[in-house]
Amino acid sequence: MQELEQTGNEERWYKVTQDYWKEQPSTVDGMLGGIGEVAQTDEEGSRAFIQRIFQRTTIPPDSRALDCGAGIGRVTIKVLADCFQTIDVQEQSSNFVRTFQEACPEELRPRIGMTSVSTLQDFVPTPNTYDCIWIQWVLAYLKPAHLVQCLQRCAAALKPGGFIVVKENVARGTEMLDEQDNYAIRFKQVWLDIFAQAGLEVRAQEAQQGFPRALFPVWFFALQPAGAPQPPAAAAIPATAVAVATS
Ligand SMILES: C[S@@+](CC[C@H](N)C(=O)[O-])C[C@H]1O[C@@H](n2cnc3c(N)ncnc32)[C@H](O)[C@@H]1O
Repeated sequence: MQELEQTGNEERWYKVTQDYWKEQPSTVDGMLGGIGEVAQTDEEGSRAFIQRIFQRTTIPPDSRALDCGAGIGRVTIKVLADCFQTIDVQEQSSNFVRTFQEACPEELRPRIGMTSVSTLQDFVPTPNTYDCIWIQWVLAYLKPAHLVQCLQRCAAALKPGGFIVVKENVARGTEMLDEQDNYAIRFKQVWLDIFAQAGLEVRAQEAQQGFPRALFPVWFFALQPAGAPQPPAAAAIPATAVAVATS
């Protein structure tokens, strides 16, 4: 974890991640590190969380979401397309983006907006654009300073009442770094501190249910700029955790 905190080694740090993802297959199993069998549970949990924070069951015609670190577009196709009219996609691998574009169902294609092949540490989403910015299993690759800056740029890209949703692994007994791809497993409190540093407030948080016990606990965090007026639906969300990790 020490190298994660150091500065000056950024190029080498991110190359480890890029080299890892170059070798991974463009499949759901590849996206999920060989545990593709959890995809359905994950996607059901995500749709339910969106329903809970937005308090609606229909898709508003002008709604727009952004899928960050989208990989082959699993979340875009299976989750965001059920909840938002237009979905923009950001991903660092042109290979994965190509797979997404080829595999995207015909009827969904007109609803895919901008596609950005870029790294999250450099990407600048358009301000005041999104109802939801979904960032799943990718923020953990970023160095702390980049993480905070990325979240700040995402906050600026939200429409009033919009949410950033971070879905990430959290550490149990000890923090650790997976050195094969430089993916950091942080304590939940460390994530909460990072959100606060980025000027974000946690409006809802809960654990993904139904994953095998051998996996790290996975948490959802619904974030909004601190002090932003809460829309009536968000105001109804309890501010504290509503579910307990299965660990
Ligand atoms: C574990 S996969 C998750 C993909 C997708 N979010 C999902 O849940 O199916 C991680 C993805 O993040 C991408 N990624 C890794 N580091 C990145 C970075 N610095 N900027 C943007 N994308 C990155 C990888 O290429 C890969 O597609």
